Amino acid sequence: MPDATGTLDALLAPYVELQRDALLPALWEVQTAYGYISPLAVRAISRALRIPEAEIYGVVSFYSMFHQEPTGQQIIHICTDPACGLKGADDLLRAACARLGIQPGETSPDGSYTIRRSSCLGLCEHAPAALISRRGADARSVAPVDDVDRLLAGDAGPRPTVIGGEARVLLAGEQCQRLAEYGDYAALRHAIQHLDPDRVIGEVEKSGLVGRGGAAFPTGQKWRFTRQVSEQPHYVVCNADESEPGTFKDRVLLETRPHLVLEGMALCAYAIGASKGYLFVRGEYPEAYRTIQDALAEAQAANLLGKQIMGSEFSFDIELRRSAGAYICGEETALFEAIEGKRGYPRMKPPFPTSQGLFGKPTAINNVETLCAVPGIVRHGADWFRQFGTEKSSGTKLVSVSGHVQRPGVYEIVPGLTLRRLLEEYCGGVTGTLQAVLMGGAAGTFLKPDEIDVRLTFEDLWAIGGTFGSGAVMVFNERVDLRDVLRRLARFFQHESCGKCFPCQLGTQRQLEIVERMDGPLPGDYQRLRDIGLTMSEASLCGLGQTAAAAVLSALSKWPELVGAP
Ligand SMILES: Cc1cc2nc3c(=O)[nH]c(=O)nc-3n(C[C@H](O)[C@H](O)[C@H](O)COP(=O)(O)O)c2cc1C
Ligand code: SF4
Ligand code: FES
Repeated sequence: MPDATGTLDALLAPYVELQRDALLPALWEVQTAYGYISPLAVRAISRALRIPEAEIYGVVSFYSMFHQEPTGQQIIHICTDPACGLKGADDLLRAACARLGIQPGETSPDGSYTIRRSSCLGLCEHAPAALISRRGADARSVAPVDDVDRLLAGDAGPRPTVIGGEARVLLAGEQCQRLAEYGDYAALRHAIQHLDPDRVIGEVEKSGLVGRGGAAFPTGQKWRFTRQVSEQPHYVVCNADESEPGTFKDRVLLETRPHLVLEGMALCAYAIGASKGYLFVRGEYPEAYRTIQDALAEAQAANLLGKQIMGSEFSFDIELRRSAGAYICGEETALFEAIEGKRGYPRMKPPFPTSQGLFGKPTAINNVETLCAVPGIVRHGADWFRQFGTEKSSGTKLVSVSGHVQRPGVYEIVPGLTLRRLLEEYCGGVTGTLQAVLMGGAAGTFLKPDEIDVRLTFEDLWAIGGTFGSGAVMVFNERVDLRDVLRRLARFFQHESCGKCFPCQLGTQRQLEIVERMDGPLPGDYQRLRDIGLTMSEASLCGLGQTAAAAVLSALSKWPELVGAP
């Protein structure tokens, strides 16, 4: 517990007089030191950053990893989303709570542990997964955790992720966390010495690269729009929030190729005329955060980032921001609010980020994987990138495969590969008999076994009413109760809805209630679910509400008997 105001003030001394965007780092500082954010701490932060206390409470209560009440020495977050649900996460949660004589959300009587249920931790290939935050120390991921003793001892480290597929662009070569292995940003050097910013944008446009964060927006076009706005300054933001259940490819890029991410950001900055960038990492990725922190320090020390990079006129630096457990903060405008030190509520669009983004200034925001594709394009040219994939899905694409396959992991595929080949050849086959594949994560759609000859391209998946989304592929065999999967998905959206607009706030609650009684549905539930789903899709303010019913609606259309269809 924060003992004396003096200790707190000392902890917060580096934050005094900083701008409001230092709020998230200041909250992390306190949360890590004390395990929770007390009223005394809120007062001290309010004094340091000159933010009203009420607004700080508003931010603290928004995030699931910040606590306002004392917690145990260790907080154990156990994921119970679909991939972990399949691998016994509920049993693990029950057993851990029973051992300590507590309920989920409570702290053991001796104050050692707090156990909490968590949304997807981005470790789905190692399910069941947990995250342990220790008071006064860094957090760590533990997975797979099939044993309560090892969980409480915190000794189940993540085993290496299977990385496979074609590995031509993003995952080519060995992993290279250090600059010495990665090299001195050859693509950035080439751009600075030989290409003007317009040429870099032109090359990215010609490459056909589209965003890998889910919306598939053309990257070159986004950069051109941003560059064209005369208002200054311009910002680059890397979206490393990756909280879509079933998606973990960005984690693997951050952990194994941090300099590729940083070089991609620097190239974006050079192209759009920015001198400042932010990299926003989800709070549940402590290892990725540490890796990128080290890489950033290395790049700054080598003058690959910072003032007058490589002796040129181009200056660009990056700040890291760690989120604190809120899926909605992956939505680009909510992410800006979060960096700015406010609650992560999405903004109305338009205006779009390219004209009014971070701090109200023109901003290019891109997904980790999108940015990682850029150094290759700049170095080898758009035609090189276009040799992979199809006209509308050029380059390679990462997919995160979890669930019932022999080798779950991250695969770099050349779009055009069929889902069947991905599962059978790359992932070693389905364990058991295939029942369904959820493509695109919680906001995605289900495919039946007779649909897996679909080619994995944006256009082929759209043509059958599906989505590539962020590249999540979750596989369920015949032993899985799909109602249980739908319950977990509905619970996820109900939990993650930010509550700013009614269709989503109320719709996700009603959807969960109906899905929870699927074993004994009331007359009219089938129609009710469809009505709620359509209302959310049509009337919600942001992409979360617009897609919160996608998986449920696709399950209803493919297995109407699940909800007692008429
Ligand atoms: C609820 C919600 C969550 C999102 N989460 C992420 C995320 O974790 N990572 C990401 O890159 N994009 C996410 N997006 C998409 C972003 O809003 C944005 O489109 C993306 O960062 C743009 O980058 P891209 O063009 O490179 O894909 C999310 C969107 C919504 C609606
Ligand atoms: S759709 Fe949902 S998540 Fe998006 S603003 Fe509305 S309530 Fe918030
Ligand atoms: S880590 Fe559990 S579902 Fe992703």
